[in-house]
Amino acid sequence: MSAFALEVADLWAGYEPDLPILRGASIRAAAGEIVVLLGPNGAGKSTLVKAIAGLVAISAGRTSLDGAEITHLPAHLMVRHGLAYVPQTDNVFVAMTVDENLRLAAFAGAGAERRARTESVYALFSELAAQRRRPAGHLSGGQRQMLAIGRALMVRPRVLILDEPSAGLSPRLVETVFAKLAEIRAGGIAILLVEQNARAALAIGDRAYVLVEGRERHEGPAASLWHDPEVARLYLGGLAAGDSESTP
Ligand SMILES: Nc1ncnc2c1ncn2[C@@H]1O[C@H](COP(=O)(O)OP(=O)(O)O)[C@@H](O)[C@H]1O
Ligand SMILES: [Mg+2]
Repeated sequence: MSAFALEVADLWAGYEPDLPILRGASIRAAAGEIVVLLGPNGAGKSTLVKAIAGLVAISAGRTSLDGAEITHLPAHLMVRHGLAYVPQTDNVFVAMTVDENLRLAAFAGAGAERRARTESVYALFSELAAQRRRPAGHLSGGQRQMLAIGRALMVRPRVLILDEPSAGLSPRLVETVFAKLAEIRAGGIAILLVEQNARAALAIGDRAYVLVEGRERHEGPAASLWHDPEVARLYLGGLAAGDSESTP
């Protein structure tokens, strides 16, 4: 059995046949680990997670979950194999209530199982429990992000992929959402976290990659990446280098 819940090896993918966006990207995430994916705008972070989720055509390379290949699996079958992907936008049904959003998650089980899963999501996100009959469109940005994560958890994934869950949230809400990710990690799920918010992401992450031009250029424990002067200067806005206040 593979030691890694998610393994991506030498992946090539893109939107047009002659224009690869991913150029040999390789990343891994183990169960119970938060892996952060950083990189400049346009580096291919979203393309990488969409390719893993079966939403962008892969031209070469391999993706696997717990050692089982999922490279060319269609997106709608990914959840059945234990992979849940939360897109950056349009990740909840705004006209439906919180409860309906959770209950209608694909592969969420039936009857008692579905109710148990719904309640475990409410146990994690008590704010959602208080609003279960409200339309998702009426939630705050932070609550909506929690609902999107809750929907993903309804399928009991082994790998959870999130594309910039902190986008548009206040620093306090980012902290709240990331604290929930740490709780989810404690349940043994592998989390791949795409982020612009390097400071907050490296503070909770275990390992991190910096993706540049469709390939990982730096890789390491989150804390050491934070302290790498080149990484700090190029991709973290120079926040970390020589600045003891910035230690996550
Ligand atoms: N749907 C699409 N069709 C064509 N090109 C796209 C599409 N989505 C993204 N791209 C291009 O792919 C490159 C990588 O984008 P993306 O993966 O969104 O980067 P990131 O998430 O790191 O900011 C960019 O040059 C972008 O213009
Ligand atoms: Mg992106």
